[in-house]
Amino acid sequence: IILALGLSGCHSRVIDGQQVNKEDKIIIKFSHVVDENTPKGLAAIRFAQLISERSGGSIEVQVFPNSQLFKDGEEFEALSRGDVQMIAPATSKLTQLFPQWQVMDLPYFFDDLESVHQTMDGPLGKALLSQLEEKNMRGLAMWDSGFKHLTNNVHPIIKPSDFDGLSFRVMSPGILQAQFNKFGAEAVFLPFNDVYEALSKGKVDGQENTISNIYTQQFDQVQTYLTLSQHGFLGYAVIVNAEFWDQLPSQARELLEKTIVEVTEWERETAERLNEEQLEKIKKLNKISIYALTSQEKSTWKADFSSVYSKFEKEIGLEFLNEVRK
Ligand code: LMR
Repeated sequence: IILALGLSGCHSRVIDGQQVNKEDKIIIKFSHVVDENTPKGLAAIRFAQLISERSGGSIEVQVFPNSQLFKDGEEFEALSRGDVQMIAPATSKLTQLFPQWQVMDLPYFFDDLESVHQTMDGPLGKALLSQLEEKNMRGLAMWDSGFKHLTNNVHPIIKPSDFDGLSFRVMSPGILQAQFNKFGAEAVFLPFNDVYEALSKGKVDGQENTISNIYTQQFDQVQTYLTLSQHGFLGYAVIVNAEFWDQLPSQARELLEKTIVEVTEWERETAERLNEEQLEKIKKLNKISIYALTSQEKSTWKADFSSVYSKFEKEIGLEFLNEVRK
């Protein structure tokens, strides 16, 4: 007992004023699929740094970007097995488990970031996050990637009818697939880290994504046309394994929770800044021809896409949809 006390004495650290033994070091493996130079990539690193500093090294968040550990479709199982403790998938990737999350994918549903954040941070966002509990997951926050745009290799897309006959990679079946099918395009469901190859080898004609993903994955290098359409939103749910979370010492949990709130604010600002900066970089590289939809064109697209909604009113629930609309 004396030896144990002695050991813990010299190896103890302080988390937010509380003594913690070194042998009780908490390791959180955080796996994600995007590049480090993206809003999610940078926020994961910032979170890890802040936690390391603030816990005096007693909590270590190890970040694994670029599908290094697990790809889309593998992350949920890895979290549930305890191979990783934290993930931040696109909300679209939760829709197969939780269909109501499709509300975040509805084309032209959110006019601006403010409405997105109001939804994410309000009672509806909380209701969506609480659904994750059914699968032993705890939702800690919602992060941004930003509004999605379209790239393809066949012809400029200016009107929805330009989709006809093309094929696009989508993140998940459901609404994302329906939005392309509606205008005669095929939607191909592929994991993120297979997209570059699929585009460069012509397995699909195009894809939809945010500027930071287009730039960091170099989709602009293998695609000919970019339409700045802002037709849908790409956000993330930051999720931990609930069982792991619940057995953490309360001081550690409080520190993690406090820090995630702060990092969420930083992440959203970073997403906005990066999407602007990286669009400028894409323009400078001059590999892809860019067309920005006018507000008039966006209104026409919005009206044309709205029939996709009715198809999903049943799955999402009309009442829920109307709540979010409000
Ligand atoms: C995609 O699969 O296109 C995105 O969800 C990747 C990401 O996590 O931003």
